Amino acid sequence: MNDDFYRIRRLPPYVIAEVNSMRAAARARGDDIIDLGMGNPDLPPPAHVIAKLAEVAAKPDAHGYSASKGIPGLRKAQANYYGRRFGVDVDPETEVVVTLGSKEGLANLAQAITAPGDVVLAPNPSYPIHTFGFIIAGATIRSVPTTPDERYFESLERAMKFTVPKPSVLVMGYPSNPTAETVDLAFYERVVEFAKKHQLWVLSDLAYSEIYFDGKPTPSILQVPGAKDVAIEFTSMSKTYSMAGWRIGFAVGNKTLIAALTRVKSYLDYGAFTPIQAAAVAAINGPQDCVESNRQLYHRRRDVLVESFGRSGWEIPPPRASMFAWAPLPPSLEHLGSLEFSKQLLTHAGVAVAPGVGYGEDGEGFVRIALVENEHRIRQAARNVRKYLQSMGVNTPAKAAN
Ligand SMILES: Cc1ncc(COP(=O)(O)O)c(C=O)c1O
Repeated sequence: MNDDFYRIRRLPPYVIAEVNSMRAAARARGDDIIDLGMGNPDLPPPAHVIAKLAEVAAKPDAHGYSASKGIPGLRKAQANYYGRRFGVDVDPETEVVVTLGSKEGLANLAQAITAPGDVVLAPNPSYPIHTFGFIIAGATIRSVPTTPDERYFESLERAMKFTVPKPSVLVMGYPSNPTAETVDLAFYERVVEFAKKHQLWVLSDLAYSEIYFDGKPTPSILQVPGAKDVAIEFTSMSKTYSMAGWRIGFAVGNKTLIAALTRVKSYLDYGAFTPIQAAAVAAINGPQDCVESNRQLYHRRRDVLVESFGRSGWEIPPPRASMFAWAPLPPSLEHLGSLEFSKQLLTHAGVAVAPGVGYGEDGEGFVRIALVENEHRIRQAARNVRKYLQSMGVNTPAKAAN
């Protein structure tokens, strides 16, 4: 029997899983691990959203199969969100589809539009589904940088000039997971122009649309006039409303791509549980003070992380958005590499982080730190890190972090 399955063979060992299983083993031994590894929000969804879920779940007729592309009220709510937040008009019938989280949407769109051997441009480092969604679908990935500067556009130009067959899709996600880099509208204008010139589909992942700091809201690619000719954008309830386990997200934009995703999904799923979709409507159409207070909370955690880790001898550049910091390894420990450094932090400091190499080879030299523990725990992590750094002979500032 052949057990060398084509798709499985194309999936490398999941580096981050190594640290995850060490963390699970440490916890099973009773160790207190401060978990800044996964981007799993530690906050609850708003109370009125949970109340709506319970209310609709109590109805006897709410338990059948739902609508694969999402109930009309939820697609309308998402269209309204694009109108009020970005000033973008979208048709809830033809330009919006509800997904079982944005990850599912990205993966199934990749299935819908990729033929084996197609070339897809994706950032390195990147959130894994940006590459593996397409690799599973049989595509070849050509990496482009994540940093949205001149080098990014140069590498797009080179890719179009020298790759055979010509790339058909460009994937991007800002604020970036893992690097937390952000872009402005001028960047998206250039991307849309480039995509039109080269007949490229653009997939934008805007999972952190509402987690931005320093008062600079994150733009949507769909704000660029004519972007809908080439682009589709994914957003998520997971981080904005701390509903990660509920599995609700959206794709919005180009009608052809929305139709392709909707069609594949119609073969694969029956839509999210109706009470969850109804509660998602309540979240998007209801009071938004929870979004603002969560933004402020992540902002404070970011400041505490940067300040307390800095005082422990590890300089961390402050992220402008997302729920992550992208931290270069302390210079004198660079030789360890991000995987070994992450393992040592877990073992000797009781702090879990995600090794940068898990997001692509250009993530080497960095770790991703998620803002998913409270300020007190982040300060505790900083104290533990200080002791670990001292044990490794790293010079730490004279005054202990507190
Ligand atoms: C950039 C990015 N896209 C998508 C996702 C997945 O989100 P969802 O829960 O909507 O599937 C994540 C989750 O961490 C993410 O960081």
